[in-house]
Amino acid sequence: MRVVTSNLFALLLLGAFAGVFYVWSSLEDRLERHKRGFAVPGAGSFYPKLPVDLSAKTFRTLLAVPAAHRTQLKAHNLSEYPAGSRHDNVNRNQTTPQEGFVKLDRPVEDGIFWSAWLEDLLPVGFTEEYAHAWRDKARAARVVKLEPGCGRTSNQLATFADGSKACVRYGINADQVQGETLTYYLACLLGITNVPPLILSQLNSYNEQWVAVRTRLGGLQWSDHAVVSLTEWVSNLSGVVTPAPLRQESSGLHPELLNKTTAELVDLMQWSDLIIFDYMTANFDRLVSNLFSLQWDARVMERDTNNLLKTPRGDLVFIDNEAGLVHGFRVLNMWEQYHQTVLSSVCVFRKRTAQRVAELHQRRDSRIRLLQLYRDSEPLSAKLGFLSDEHAAVLQDRIDRVYKHILHCKEKYGQL
Ligand SMILES: Nc1ncnc2c1ncn2[C@@H]1O[C@H](COP(=O)(O)OP(=O)(O)OP(=O)(O)O)[C@@H](O)[C@H]1O
Ligand SMILES: [Mg+2]
Repeated sequence: MRVVTSNLFALLLLGAFAGVFYVWSSLEDRLERHKRGFAVPGAGSFYPKLPVDLSAKTFRTLLAVPAAHRTQLKAHNLSEYPAGSRHDNVNRNQTTPQEGFVKLDRPVEDGIFWSAWLEDLLPVGFTEEYAHAWRDKARAARVVKLEPGCGRTSNQLATFADGSKACVRYGINADQVQGETLTYYLACLLGITNVPPLILSQLNSYNEQWVAVRTRLGGLQWSDHAVVSLTEWVSNLSGVVTPAPLRQESSGLHPELLNKTTAELVDLMQWSDLIIFDYMTANFDRLVSNLFSLQWDARVMERDTNNLLKTPRGDLVFIDNEAGLVHGFRVLNMWEQYHQTVLSSVCVFRKRTAQRVAELHQRRDSRIRLLQLYRDSEPLSAKLGFLSDEHAAVLQDRIDRVYKHILHCKEKYGQL
């Protein structure tokens, strides 16, 4: 009888082990599949780093578990990122899990900068190499179709012979195309990769690029010889609502207020770049115009932000920058208080962006560097022209102001 009982017990034990093993291996299997999924780059230009469903998953799970378990849970989610990334190394080197979790969890380092492990998760956007290749391709491509699909009728959706697309901006005046173009090159100078690549093209009757759509151009009454801009068209974009820390009722994006999920932090990191960028270029046609509209539209912040879109994976795409630099500088008096309010609401920055701002501030060479990059990259730069001396000085001044603001934040939060 004892033999039977102990055999039965052993069988039960074996069954329990098998059950645990089964659950564990299928879990591992799912995790593995999940990891492999990340390694496949998304269609088009956009970065493979941020997992598609991390945000929703992390957020839901966080809601479901007691606070004491949250730190551990976050670290677990992070372990799902592809091997070889920075936090993966941190995990391997840690002595106790708790130390590692604390290290992984901190979204900010050196007081006011997004942590390196978060930087590692940031979408790379339109890289320099990618943008270079797109510009070369777009310059040589023939436009076979022009149709609505990029906003006002002065913008048209162009289809190239290979089926890829671009938004063409005719610009009601030269300021707009210039603003769009120079703002794009300023983003390149700052290392901000959220602006789609851009080229200029002239609508000459002898320009082969436009031959196939000549009749359509006539119908649009776009004048011959006009210089237009073409920016890469990105599929599957959706609208973006301003995140809570950047709304008027919040005290802003500060190092102390970052109790967020990883996906939210990656989002906010891109917003911190956007705010510096829009301040420098005095682009009122995004967050600032929302702030302005609050006077008569109390719910404006609940709606999508102008001229800002997002890929399904969460990278922000800064479109329609034609209000930047030229037009934005002309109407600075009207908008400056709003620009200031938005800039002062942010005290966390990307290290690389802050570094580039510091360089441009110290060398005081923003005009020459922007001009050089523009001339070297754009064959039609001389046709479209560059910033006036006055506006180049305004740009340098705004860079200096951003630099001082970063210093101010460093003084305020540097000890954290
Ligand atoms: N690069 C792009 N990739 C994909 N879609 C784009 C792109 N640029 C513009 N669009 C689409 O066109 C819409 C309008 O774009 P844009 O803001 O450039 O034009 P607009 O004339 O200022 O229009 P609006 O007045 O609606 O802002 C966007 O909301 C988006 O749907
Ligand atoms: Mg627009």
